[in-house]
Amino acid sequence: MSAPSGWIEVAVGGLAAWLRRAGPGDGPAVLELYESLGDTSRYARFGQATPRLTATLRRSLTDFGPDPLWLAFDGASAGRCVGEARVVRSRHGGPAELAITVADAHQGHGLGAVLGALALADADAGPITVTIAADNGPARRLAARAGVALRWQDGAHVGRVRQGPPHPYDLGCAS
Ligand SMILES: CC(C)(COP(=O)(O)OP(=O)(O)OC[C@H]1O[C@@H](n2cnc3c(N)ncnc32)[C@H](O)[C@@H]1OP(=O)(O)O)[C@@H](O)C(=O)NCCC(=O)NCCS
Repeated sequence: MSAPSGWIEVAVGGLAAWLRRAGPGDGPAVLELYESLGDTSRYARFGQATPRLTATLRRSLTDFGPDPLWLAFDGASAGRCVGEARVVRSRHGGPAELAITVADAHQGHGLGAVLGALALADADAGPITVTIAADNGPARRLAARAGVALRWQDGAHVGRVRQGPPHPYDLGCAS
């Protein structure tokens, strides 16, 4: 089966995935991804125990504004969202923030880097940071591989993913 026209089809670490920008009807797919995450991944993503997705969190995850949001679907079971990356603009004038989420069963194939690179390539020029919980080894390794220098700040690892204009090799992956 091949990806619908206009989608980006990738094979990373033996995993076939179809990627595209999120659209207005993608809220349920994104929520399904987050509902599927185990405790460890939810903790890693939100930096705190998140046993259930509150109404506020559900709204913020699905309130797609102008910020870049890319989705990955499993190429083998068309339709299931297995990852997303977004660059969220700060409401207070600080740097935007990159956040990446990959479904538990799809982690460890390199999909996070591809998603992150696509979201970054779509982001407005300007600084973008990433905030990684203290014990989030996979995210720290992903950042290290992308050359992001992390520093310890307010109980988390924080690093500049991008200082200024977009770079095609952000996160080590061509856009
Ligand atoms: C962090 C995350 C986005 C990485 O995405 P990914 O597609 O799994 O990334 P990669 O396949 O490139 O793996 C990154 C590193 O973590 C390791 N890794 C990935 N999943 C792992 C797992 N479940 N257990 C242990 N190690 C894992 C990989 O081996 C790799 O390490 P390496 O570079 O030394 O080989 C993904 O693990 C995830 O969604 N985690 C939960 C949410 C989260 O933490 N988001 C980041 C905060 S913004």
